[in-house]
Amino acid sequence: MAACPFRRSIASQLSRVLNLPPENLIKSISAVPVSKKRPVADFQLFVGSVIENKSSDRSKPDLQLQTQRLAEKLKCDTVVSEISTGPGTVNFTINKELLAKAVLQQVFKDGSEYGIKSELFSTVPRRKIVIEFSSPNIAKKFHVGHLRSTIIGNFVANLKEALGHQVTRINYLGDWGMQFGLLGAGFQQFGNEEELQSNPLQHLFEVYVQVNKAAEEDENIKKLAQDFFRKLEARDEQTLSMWQHFRDFSIEEYVRIYKRLGVHFDEYSGESFYQEKSQEVLKMLDTKGLLQKTIKGTRVVDLSEKRDLSLSSTVMRSDGTSLYITRDLAAAIDRMKKYNCDTMIYVTDKSQNTHFEQLFQILKLMGYQWAERCQHVSFGLVQGMKTRKGEVVFLEDVLNEARSRMLQNMASAKTTKELENPLETAEKIGLAALIIQDFKGLLSSDYQFSWDRVLQSRGDTGVFLQYTHARLHSLEQMCRNGQSTDINTACLQDPQAISVLQHLLRYDEVLYKSSEDLQPKHIVSYLLTLSHLAAVAHKTLPVKGSAPELAQVLCIIAV
Ligand code: ARG
Repeated sequence: MAACPFRRSIASQLSRVLNLPPENLIKSISAVPVSKKRPVADFQLFVGSVIENKSSDRSKPDLQLQTQRLAEKLKCDTVVSEISTGPGTVNFTINKELLAKAVLQQVFKDGSEYGIKSELFSTVPRRKIVIEFSSPNIAKKFHVGHLRSTIIGNFVANLKEALGHQVTRINYLGDWGMQFGLLGAGFQQFGNEEELQSNPLQHLFEVYVQVNKAAEEDENIKKLAQDFFRKLEARDEQTLSMWQHFRDFSIEEYVRIYKRLGVHFDEYSGESFYQEKSQEVLKMLDTKGLLQKTIKGTRVVDLSEKRDLSLSSTVMRSDGTSLYITRDLAAAIDRMKKYNCDTMIYVTDKSQNTHFEQLFQILKLMGYQWAERCQHVSFGLVQGMKTRKGEVVFLEDVLNEARSRMLQNMASAKTTKELENPLETAEKIGLAALIIQDFKGLLSSDYQFSWDRVLQSRGDTGVFLQYTHARLHSLEQMCRNGQSTDINTACLQDPQAISVLQHLLRYDEVLYKSSEDLQPKHIVSYLLTLSHLAAVAHKTLPVKGSAPELAQVLCIIAV
């Protein structure tokens, strides 16, 4: 197990003084964020978090006194060169040569797993996680909410996987319902097989729009649609095969577009799978005495505290058919049976908060204790995302727009070098820009989208991150002299180099934070700061023609 030698060493000294096992102290020792204004200590201990059990009176002056007393009992050693106190903290300054050596060695050793192998994660049990995200509706618009769900879900899945959890990614398509009645009836009138094959998402959407319009004027079409859907529900072979056809082609295209985003799924599920199973759920609810009939003939589950139906969830229409939530109940039960997972995560926009609260609540009422391990990761709305063609209808439109705008920016920038494949580069940078913009704030916040802001080359954008990465990589290529472990750390004592090293010390804590609250903003802000610090170091410290060690510090950031 890779361990930060500094946290360990500080913890073991503290453990002697406080008479507590070092393992309990590790998490209370954190790397101090780098500050522009003053040189900072490297680590700090939040005294309140380790002595709270021992002290009955936690009023402020007392805490400060205890902090002072604790600091007095601690001694500098070969690792710690200075001990000081702050409000409620004991601060530790690490021997700077040791700092440079240890950080660089760790980076070389762990490579792309730097931070992930930290001892902070050693007590975290490895879990089986099922995460459902993206989940668009066939024939309907792929709206910005689906884009957010796709990239946020992918972030959570990647992070959990990187930390050693077993992750299953599910896409739960909106592939059932009256829209397929209309689509089926519409396709018979306006559809074209060739177009369906070459451009399924767009063609189905067009047919859907067309048939909706036609149905408004022509009762007959409405009837045809109802017939089609009725046949579909009755599993009529021919109708079902047409539906399957729409679904298969759509998935094929989704897979291709997700690939552009670096996203994949282990399973394409969908509402269609749970048509029959939701009838079983209704029976179960009935047997458990949870189903109540309303005057309108619908069936509801009472969710109110006083059991007076002041809060309820409708699970069956008066004609006996299931609803969105009924299918979700069936899907959740099925997923748990199939994967026997520890955690089940759903990623959608916050307009579905109540839906998921009620879903989990009903599952609990049904006696499924695991409902407590279900989690809804919800996010805010994005306003104003438009392409040059107008409103966003398809995911691909957004990706193309990001790419073409980026390509244009690259062409007009004087600093852009001749590139082998400008389209591919523009695609990668454009994507990073979209993702970083989306991940900068708290997921639950709404934000106003602006292409100009997203694609700025300076400032806190994905373009800036990619730029830094490219710059450091070319530096690495230029100065590459193997990954030497024999480092002359004396060359790394300039404050700019120290700041980079100090910042690298924090990476595992940042990862830990994001893995706990599932907010990408901690990692994004960490990376932006890292890029700014690297830019300062690059500017002030001459790399070309100077000590190779210096280049190495900058190079490792590129890893
Ligand atoms: N297809 C739904 C929509 O577009 C999202 C599905 C979310 N997942 C779920 N299990 N309900 O709104």
